[in-house]
Amino acid sequence: MPRHVAIIMDGNGRWAARRRRPRVIGHRAGARTVNLCIDFCLERGIEALTLFAFSSENWGRPEDEVGALMKLFLQALDREVGELHRRGVRLRFIGDRARFSDAIRARMDAAEAHTAGNTALTLSVAASYGGRHDIAMAARALAEDVAAGRLRPEDIDEAAVGARVALADLPAPDLFIRTGGDLRISNFLLWQLAYTELWFTETLWPELDVAELERALQAYAVRERRFGLTGEQIARDVPAAPPHQTRSR
Ligand code: IPE
Ligand code: IPE
Ligand code: MG
Repeated sequence: MPRHVAIIMDGNGRWAARRRRPRVIGHRAGARTVNLCIDFCLERGIEALTLFAFSSENWGRPEDEVGALMKLFLQALDREVGELHRRGVRLRFIGDRARFSDAIRARMDAAEAHTAGNTALTLSVAASYGGRHDIAMAARALAEDVAAGRLRPEDIDEAAVGARVALADLPAPDLFIRTGGDLRISNFLLWQLAYTELWFTETLWPELDVAELERALQAYAVRERRFGLTGEQIARDVPAAPPHQTRSR
């Protein structure tokens, strides 16, 4: 069973286009699948779910689509946070918050504060997120620490970078899922996915169901995670985490 699942929720636009409907209808339909995934993780005891909702690059989409997505985001925050809290979900956002409106930023901060003490599931929503930006910000934080005399350059290692990227307090994702049929990472968690098992499906995000999530878990269950070691070493039960995997600290 994976402890941490990370998902690229892709295919909303194509789902709508197939119905000859505007793309925003696809995004609205996709919001329902988010709840399905949260329920699934809660039921299976998966500790952490990270969802890619909006990338740094998605800001470049047509203005009306970005506007519609922001409206949906705001509505979802107002509608869902109470219920998530009741179910023990700790909600967090990763990504460049400065690009959101004051109203959305205030809701994000409030939702995080409200759910901070919950332990059933850590739900991280990647919004205005880019993996390269994440690593660049970690580099900036390291530079600031060095400039302030808190850190020596020779102390910069994988652990020091890993402690400053998003999700540093969680185990690295065990399982990555992308819907929508494209076989790429699209600037999602570049650092954190180093040894994550990847699983892709043609299914468009609004059509993802529990049976498909089951298939992803079944595929994960039979993968051999070697972390650079040999199959024989793994069979001899060498600890199944690489030395530099991002771990809670
Ligand atoms: C994913 O669906 C949602 C966001 C990127 C916001 P898309 O909108 O990318 O849907 P497709 O890939 O065009 O079908
Ligand atoms: C990735 O999907 C981002 C999200 C799902 C939020 P995109 O639709 O933006 O990715 P590309 O453009 O197909 O790579
Ligand atoms: Mg897409």
